[in-house]
Amino acid sequence: MTAAYRVMVLSGDGVGPEIVAAAQRVLAVVQRRFDFALTYEEGLIGGRAIDELGLPMEDGLAARCRTCDAVLLGAVGGPKWDTTDPAKPRPEQGLLGMRKGLELFANLRPVKSFAALAANSTIKPEVIAGVDIMVVRELTGGVYFGKSERIGDTAYDTMLYTDAECDRLLDYAFGLAAARRGLLHSVDKANVLESSRLWRAAALRAAARRPAVELRHMLVDNCAMQLIREPRQFDVIATENLFGDILSDEAAMLTGSIGMLPSASVGAGGVSLYEPIHGSAPDIAGRGVVNPCATILSVAMMLDLSFAQTAAARAVEVAVEAALADGARTADIAAAGEPVLTTEAMTDRVIAAL
Ligand code: IPM
Ligand code: MG
Repeated sequence: MTAAYRVMVLSGDGVGPEIVAAAQRVLAVVQRRFDFALTYEEGLIGGRAIDELGLPMEDGLAARCRTCDAVLLGAVGGPKWDTTDPAKPRPEQGLLGMRKGLELFANLRPVKSFAALAANSTIKPEVIAGVDIMVVRELTGGVYFGKSERIGDTAYDTMLYTDAECDRLLDYAFGLAAARRGLLHSVDKANVLESSRLWRAAALRAAARRPAVELRHMLVDNCAMQLIREPRQFDVIATENLFGDILSDEAAMLTGSIGMLPSASVGAGGVSLYEPIHGSAPDIAGRGVVNPCATILSVAMMLDLSFAQTAAARAVEVAVEAALADGARTADIAAAGEPVLTTEAMTDRVIAAL
């Protein structure tokens, strides 16, 4: 019997609809070739939801997502909804509400350098060659969800963690490291932050449960530096929410462009969410020039992790690599003088390689 999967599509704002449409075009080809069936539902999130409903996401969206097999998200946010008024809704609240509502506590951001793009990065090719890092970012705790308040001329945000939150993230990350090169960097700021010392103690406990994995503690400022100095020293990086947000944008440049980096958010609730790590890129939205690769690679992660369609996932990854090797470039990854493709033409090249 043909396997069938239902995917909730949350295209969101800015370039979101363009990259999601590109990924769906790829999926349409993949499902025929690998003989499974996809159906889509749509949900309203981000700035569009604020415009239409006055809320950062439609009511009951997490519950609707839970009835699906996976969630595909484009991007949220844009200058139209940027405000410093704490009383106004923000598009990002929709994304954060989804992550929390679906209990997506681990965000996987694989950072692999593409041989074809080695010369296109702002970092020297010999530094980034062979980079293969998995950033595992805690996604439902920390300063993103702690109590925060603005009182007159004063504001605060709270970085709060519990043992249980640290343990489940670190156990997950150690599990991944065991299946990779067996090295895990636990990144914190334990020289300053109490929540980091709680985190570090949890890392030691998780390491004791996984003796085959080597644990190295690293301070987050040093990690930011080491990622550029010698990125090949890393296998798995496990870190809390805000540190992971910042480090993964930095690490993206090892691949040549943030437009190349996919992500999967997994958790306790069963349904996982897939999205590129980049934002809504309002400066190029609607022009058909955004790089679709991060979203196409995100659906490859979906095929693998949510549907166990491993061969299909690998085929998509190989097709992206082949298109790049064949010189296909959107503006963000083109070196001077290289011809630049539109989103649609780039997607065509990936599909041709499939
Ligand atoms: C990301 C983004 C989000 C985050 C924003 C849009 C809230 O930067 O997914 O990395 O900070 O988590
Ligand atoms: Mg980010």
